[in-house]
Amino acid sequence: MNYLEKFSLLNKIAIVTGAAQGNGFAIAKGLLGAGATVYFIDILKQEISDPKAKYIIADVIKKEDLERVVNQVYQEQGRIDILVNNAGITISEPSESYSQESWDKTYRVNLKAVFQLSQMVAKHMIGQKSGVIINITSLGAEQGFPNNPAYVAFKGGLKQLSKALANDWAKYNIRVNNLMPGYIKTNMTQKSWNDPVLRTKRQKKTMLGRWGEPDDLVGPAIFLASDASSYITGHDLYVDGGWLAKGL
Ligand SMILES: NC(=O)c1ccc[n+]([C@@H]2O[C@H](COP(=O)([O-])OP(=O)(O)OC[C@H]3O[C@@H](n4cnc5c(N)ncnc54)[C@H](O)[C@@H]3O)[C@@H](O)[C@H]2O)c1
Repeated sequence: MNYLEKFSLLNKIAIVTGAAQGNGFAIAKGLLGAGATVYFIDILKQEISDPKAKYIIADVIKKEDLERVVNQVYQEQGRIDILVNNAGITISEPSESYSQESWDKTYRVNLKAVFQLSQMVAKHMIGQKSGVIINITSLGAEQGFPNNPAYVAFKGGLKQLSKALANDWAKYNIRVNNLMPGYIKTNMTQKSWNDPVLRTKRQKKTMLGRWGEPDDLVGPAIFLASDASSYITGHDLYVDGGWLAKGL
């Protein structure tokens, strides 16, 4: 047997949200490199030249945008094999004065949209009797972080949503897993990267002694999207340089 074939995504159709930059962009390019046709979904425009890379501008907060995405992908490809729910936002404010607006917006992007899109995509996956959903969680799904109650609450909720969906949809041969990045150098973490004290503090929290790069997520994403992980569902895959496992 050619074991490399187990990691191949040839002829697979994938949707990646929040794919214009950062983690989502790296993951989308990685799935493309493993052979999939990939729909890059974002409110921002970002194009790379590859015949298998497709782009749809859409706001995951808007249900009609999600419906448009799923309809277009299905009409063009006739199937959907992989969904990566990566789009996410973080709004930092003290818990004592955390605004309702920031709470609602974080909920809509980081949790509600994931459920809505997963339901829409699952309709097709159920018909196919196969599919893979990867949800991008966070250290915030495991630990309390300061001044960001909405991010922590909804990433924690997302972690559990994956387990619920994994349980409910296993009978349709749909696998649902969490991919949990540690501190990765992207626009989202730019403020702490730019501050030398915070940068070093985060670096020292890891066993490997460094921040992650978006490319560090690519291998784990291909693994979870491919047949190489065919007996894995409802799982949390930590890609955090050993942050969570570190004692002293
Ligand atoms: N960077 C990290 O250290 C880190 C750690 C853990 C988890 N994450 C998670 O990884 C994911 C990606 O984060 P990132 O660091 O690449 O951030 P980023 O800000 O660089 O990228 C997020 C992308 O999501 C898109 N997006 C935001 N709101 C959207 C919406 N309503 N509709 C469509 N697209 C939208 C943005 O335009 C952007 O392209 C997020 O879910 C984040 O919570 C990041």
